Parts: sequence; structure tokens; C-alpha cells
Amino acid sequence: YTAHIDASDIEKGTYPHFMLKEIDEQPFVMRRIIKEYQTEDNKLKLDADVRQAMKACDRIYIIAAGTSYHAGLVGKEFIEKLANIPVEVHIASEFSYNMPLLSEKPLFIFISQSGETADSRAVLVRIKELGHSALTITNVPGSTLSREADYTLNLYAGPEIAVASTKAYTAQIAVLAILAVDTAQAKELELDFDPMQELAIVANAMEVLTDQKEAIEELVRENLGTTRNAFFIGRSTDYHVCQEGSLKLKEISYIQAEGFAGGELKHGTIALIEEGTPVIAIATQENVNLSIRGNVQEVAARGANTMVFSMKGLEQDTDAFVIPHVHELLTPLASVVPMQLLAYYAALHRDCDVDKPRNLAKSVTVE
Ligand code: G6P
Repeated sequence: YTAHIDASDIEKGTYPHFMLKEIDEQPFVMRRIIKEYQTEDNKLKLDADVRQAMKACDRIYIIAAGTSYHAGLVGKEFIEKLANIPVEVHIASEFSYNMPLLSEKPLFIFISQSGETADSRAVLVRIKELGHSALTITNVPGSTLSREADYTLNLYAGPEIAVASTKAYTAQIAVLAILAVDTAQAKELELDFDPMQELAIVANAMEVLTDQKEAIEELVRENLGTTRNAFFIGRSTDYHVCQEGSLKLKEISYIQAEGFAGGELKHGTIALIEEGTPVIAIATQENVNLSIRGNVQEVAARGANTMVFSMKGLEQDTDAFVIPHVHELLTPLASVVPMQLLAYYAALHRDCDVDKPRNLAKSVTVE
């Protein structure tokens, strides 16, 4: 696979930044994943060994860092809801020092764009010593985490050059969805979810979203121009995207940003809301729509400058942006795109080095 990288993968072409190019590549990455993980007669194509390992385990431990950790949080939902296996998601650097009690038949899943993150590798070495099996989901076949694990699933996202991860995050989520469905099929569980069909819908939605750059840039100009801080609120699946959205914003625009669970606001964070504080809310989940809308009103009543990103079907007139409809399990694949673009334009407007933010490295190979 690596042999097929062509020059366009590692050059910016007409794009001003790799990050923008990589955001725009996401619909193609979705379609490539569909192609790579599908047989000619439209069945899922995964190694029999991976299928067997997933079927045999009694609990999954996802280990990752940064953006990959955020993808893991979404993956947990797929594996628990679709494949009925309990999942814990751990920050790699924490796991080593505070190892949880392990189940009898654990399976470890390492999620890593680069496959080289030292914190994740330290956990892999430790759990191999304990005799457990590991699956690595990575964008770099042949990377350390891939070679040292028992199994590998490739992301097929193509080289990701910008330090802030974008297409790797959506690729990780797509592959995790496919893995969860494959496991459910292996366990002969009833499923009303066709991942390839839904991912194809996501690819189209991503195209619509990446065509709306001007609208996002306008939102940034109006609301994030000179702000010191910004908050992201969401519930359930949207909360995970808030964590990723806030990470994107802080790492490249240096705006102090935090993602919070809507319900936690009243337990502390609401004290930080002042006149004009930007609060970005993500509302794509029907079952929490009323509660997140309530949270938006609470912060607005205290002066916050609210921007709601809602899913088609749940939108209200005052919402800042409407995301095309995708399956409720896969909403992060769509809702993260405007978050990536918000971060991009915020960094651009502040003259920050978008692709190479200060103090950060693409791949952190020291513990
Ligand atoms: C670094 C990068 C992040 C990335 C994290 C994990 O901090 O700047 O963008 O999410 O490492 O990297 P990995 O390659 O393991 O996914």
C-alpha cells in the first residue's frame, strides 16, 4: 500500500495548507475505506484472525493518545452497541501507571495515526509481556505499533502531514464502525445497520460540508476573532466531538478551548461564562436534543455568544449551521468537519502556523 503513494499525497498542490487539503480529502478517504473493506459481492472484508480475536475476547481495551483517543471514544459506542462487547478507552500515558483490573480474555486495540506514539508503544510492550493480544489500527502499515501487535487494520487515509489530525480521525471512526459490524456478524447478532451504505452517505455529506467553507469562515470572523477562550458543549456522541473540536481549536489557534458534557456545565464550567464568551454546541442526537438546547439557553442567559451546529431534522431557525443528515451512529464523521474548519480559519485569522503549530509534533516518540 505505501508503495502507491504518489506525489499529490505529499504535496500541497493548489492548497495553501496541508490541513485544508486533508480536510477536503475526507470524502475520498471514506470511499477508499469502503472499497478496501468490501469484497466483490458486497461483504465485509476483514482478516479471519481479527474476526476471531474480536469474537473470542470478553472485553476490549482501547489505548490511544490525542485525536486517536477521541476516535476511540466514538469506537467504544460502536463496539458496545453493535457487537455487544464491553469497551474501556484509555489514554496511553495514563494506562501504564494506573493499569485497570483486566478481564479474563482482554483484547487490546491500539489506535494511532502514525503507529509510532511512544506512550502507546509502552503499553503494547507491557501487555505483550503479560501475554495479551493486540490489534493496531493505523495509517502507517509497517509502523512500530503495527509490527509489534498481533493484527493490524489499515486506515487508508494517505499520508497526513499537518500536525493537527483530521482525515485520520474520520478514517479511524469509519474503520471502527466496520470492525464493530464485522464482529456483530461473526457473532450472528441481529443488525439493522449497513455500514458501507451509511459511510457512502457520510462521504456525500462531507462533500456538502467541505463546500461550505465560506460560511464557516464567516462564523469565525464574527465570533472567534479576538476571543481568549471558547467552549464546546454536547451530550452523548456529540460530547466526544466537542472534545475533538476543542483540541483542534486549541492546538492550532491557541484559543483556550474546552469541550464539556452539557450536563456538567452546571457543576462548574458555567462559572466561566461571561458576556460574549463563545459557546459552540453540537446537536445531532435526537434523544438529547431537548437537554442540549436547554444548556444553550442557560449559557445564552448568562451572556454567552452561542453557535449551534445541528443535524438536519433537529435544526432550529437560530442555529448557526446545519449538518446534512447521516445515520445517528456516524454523526461524528459529519459534525467534526465544521469543527475542523472552525479551527483552521481561527488559526488563519490569527496568523498562526496552521500546519506546524508551536510546541507540537506530528508524532510524539518520547514518553
Ligand atoms: C500528537 C499529534 C496529534 C495526535 C497524537 C497521537 O500529539 O500532534 O495530532 O493525535 O500525537 O498520535 P497518533 O499517531 O498515535 O495517532
